Amino acid sequence: MNTETDMPYPLVRCLTAADLNRVMDIEQSAYPFPWTRGIFADCLRVGYDCRGLQLGSLLVGYAVQTQFAAECHLLNLCIEPAWQRRRLGSLLLEQTILQARSGNCSSVFLEVRPSNRAGMALYRKRGFYVVGERSDYYRARQGRESAIIMRLDLDELPAERLHAVVRHDPF
Ligand SMILES: CC(C)(COP(=O)(O)OP(=O)(O)OC[C@H]1O[C@@H](n2cnc3c(N)ncnc32)[C@H](O)[C@@H]1OP(=O)(O)O)[C@@H](O)C(=O)NCCC(=O)NCCS
Repeated sequence: MNTETDMPYPLVRCLTAADLNRVMDIEQSAYPFPWTRGIFADCLRVGYDCRGLQLGSLLVGYAVQTQFAAECHLLNLCIEPAWQRRRLGSLLLEQTILQARSGNCSSVFLEVRPSNRAGMALYRKRGFYVVGERSDYYRARQGRESAIIMRLDLDELPAERLHAVVRHDPF
């Protein structure tokens, strides 16, 4: 137990197909337009880096990323609503960055909805900056919404001090 936060100490581990029910529960509770189970299954099948954040025995979030040459693409980062605003998103983002660094990436890219205040604020806070926009990228309640493309340069980026136990095998 982390005495500062009164929470179990976070554990970051690889996701497996056995996590998909729980992942879908979180995904559907957190996003207005969630990914389908098939998308997650495909991400696992093709070997994207899929990691879960666990508190005790409970999975509370996950991140999906992939690497192409020296670029990491963060495809999904999500914390269950009941567990948001406790720095768990920051912690998982930091794991993504560490993973990208260990794969010798020089940058991390992602797309985010401009209406996603929490996401935009999280990424800006960690040093991501806007490099472009894709119009009509996402489904929206009325029509479509653009995607803001953000980038983080990893060279000389100072590491944050966010601690988790990290396992590279399934739990
Ligand atoms: C975006 C998300 C991952 C943030 O996770 P989180 O654990 O709540 O974030 P943290 O507690 O680490 O917050 C870090 C910073 O992000 C910003 N932030 C997080 N949530 C915010 C909110 N609801 N409104 C405004 N800023 C917010 C703040 O700057 C915060 O720092 P602070 O707490 O010192 O003010 C979470 O809201 C989420 O899962 N949302 C649904 C899925 C999603 O939109 N993912 C991003 C897709 S691109």
